[in-house]
Amino acid sequence: MKTLLIYSSLTGNTKKVADAVREVLPENTDFYKIDDSYNVNDYDFITVGFWIDKGNADKKTLEVLKTIKNKKVAYFFTLGAYPNSEHAQKCTETINSILISGGNTLLGHFLCQGKIDSRMTEMFKKFPEGHPHAMTEERKKRHAEAAKHPDESDLNNAKIFFAEIIMKILK
Ligand SMILES: Cc1cc2nc3c(=O)[nH]c(=O)nc-3n(C[C@H](O)[C@H](O)[C@H](O)COP(=O)(O)O)c2cc1C
Repeated sequence: MKTLLIYSSLTGNTKKVADAVREVLPENTDFYKIDDSYNVNDYDFITVGFWIDKGNADKKTLEVLKTIKNKKVAYFFTLGAYPNSEHAQKCTETINSILISGGNTLLGHFLCQGKIDSRMTEMFKKFPEGHPHAMTEERKKRHAEAAKHPDESDLNNAKIFFAEIIMKILK
């Protein structure tokens, strides 16, 4: 089984998860950054890691996701929102529908929070009270929680998740 792991990471959170996932994928897995040179058609099983940008996979990843057809696919992402939020659920649905429309077999996905770039946090502070993007207490709390991730437990959970996927494929 030819296996590919590709990831996109602007500020390093998703890279941490990608490095953890890499440890449990088969030894001969090819590992690339999203904008490196590779051909998704050369692989049977593809794992894609990315970060959430405006409620979707980041742009570079979106382009690649649309080119993956008729493969076994699993994915992971990091985001600022809580993993059990409606926002995270919507992101998952969007990604699933792209991959399903490419005729792919979805093997599952993993997600966890990731520290939000301080420039984003500062930007939110500029919106006036009452604006949908204003820095509310709830948002402050969420950014503070995101700043602790991905932590050791996230990385372990990612490893367990992908090790189980590999077991399923090899069964
Ligand atoms: C420009 C920008 C847009 C973002 N949009 C969202 C978003 O819509 N929803 C969300 O939950 N997090 C959003 N985030 C937070 C990132 O998805 C999160 O911090 C992620 O862990 C970044 O991963 P990276 O360090 O691998 O780049 C955004 C961050 C940036 C910088």
